[in-house]
Amino acid sequence: MIATRLAPHVNLQGRNFLDLAELDPTEFHALLRLARELKGDASVATRSLLRGRTLAMLFEKPSLRTRVSFEVAVTSLGGQALFASGSEMLVGTRESPEDAARVLSRYVDAVVVRTHEHEPLERFAAAASVPVINGLSALYHPCQAFADVLTMEERFGSVEGLRVVYLGDARNNVATSLAQAVVLLGGSMRFAAPLSHRPSEATLERLAELGASTGGRARAFTDPVRALRGADVVYTDVWTSMGEEHLHERNAAMLLPYAVTERSFAYTAPHAVFMHCLPAHRGQEVAPAVIDGARSLVFDQAENRLHAQRALLVALITDGKGTLL
Ligand code: CP
Ligand code: NVA
Repeated sequence: MIATRLAPHVNLQGRNFLDLAELDPTEFHALLRLARELKGDASVATRSLLRGRTLAMLFEKPSLRTRVSFEVAVTSLGGQALFASGSEMLVGTRESPEDAARVLSRYVDAVVVRTHEHEPLERFAAAASVPVINGLSALYHPCQAFADVLTMEERFGSVEGLRVVYLGDARNNVATSLAQAVVLLGGSMRFAAPLSHRPSEATLERLAELGASTGGRARAFTDPVRALRGADVVYTDVWTSMGEEHLHERNAAMLLPYAVTERSFAYTAPHAVFMHCLPAHRGQEVAPAVIDGARSLVFDQAENRLHAQRALLVALITDGKGTLL
């Protein structure tokens, strides 16, 4: 057992992190508390929490933040990372997701996967005997949303009662995971998008279920001005996600009225902040004056990827007292 200064914390032993909806609000609050605690903790004991442990990172799509922040996170806790890109180690080409997962589980202590379709990732995770973390799939980006709500808590104290507005492609992975995080913590999520990019009814129903015990709510608007009224947080992401490049011209034409500009903030609360998961396209989904302005939290969000993922690895790989499993 390795002694740490960490208070007993959330134990997600035996779990995966594919989708935030798998967490209950109590677990999510505890994970956020652990992230805050680890953010200020550079003790020797914490630096050995994952000593001798290996994190495999299998990426089918490009990445800067997710790749580097996970590698730094595991290294800062005394473990090591290995990275593989392309299709040779990933779900589905040379062998089945199940076989790949069973083999990797014999070598490493946790796996981060960035992939296209969500379903093979679920099959991979079901067959793995080590924790599997979704580093982004077509449906979800839970690590991003975890860092985003950590950033909101730092700015506003709590996400409960906060009004978060997402403009743009409201069906994408970032929008869906962000909404799950906000409603799980009792916030109010508003999507502003044309009907073509509005979240499905199934997504909205699932969000209503997630918010039932926390007071969290999600609503979809087509009018960006109505959505923006009184907003505390204005969030956007790229108009065209990785793998959907063939849709870019259509998306750009349809999403132009949902671009975040300085005018968007005329309708928000005076203290409203701007957030974006990055990478960003200045002059498309967001004006340079907004993303590079005083309201922008984008680099705090990017930094918090590291702190959130340190907490996630500790919760998945150690027990609730910092003991390696
Ligand atoms: N926000 C995010 O996930 O960035 P990367 O695609 O660079 O990992
Ligand atoms: N929605 C974007 C997020 C990138 C971090 C994509 O999937 O490409």
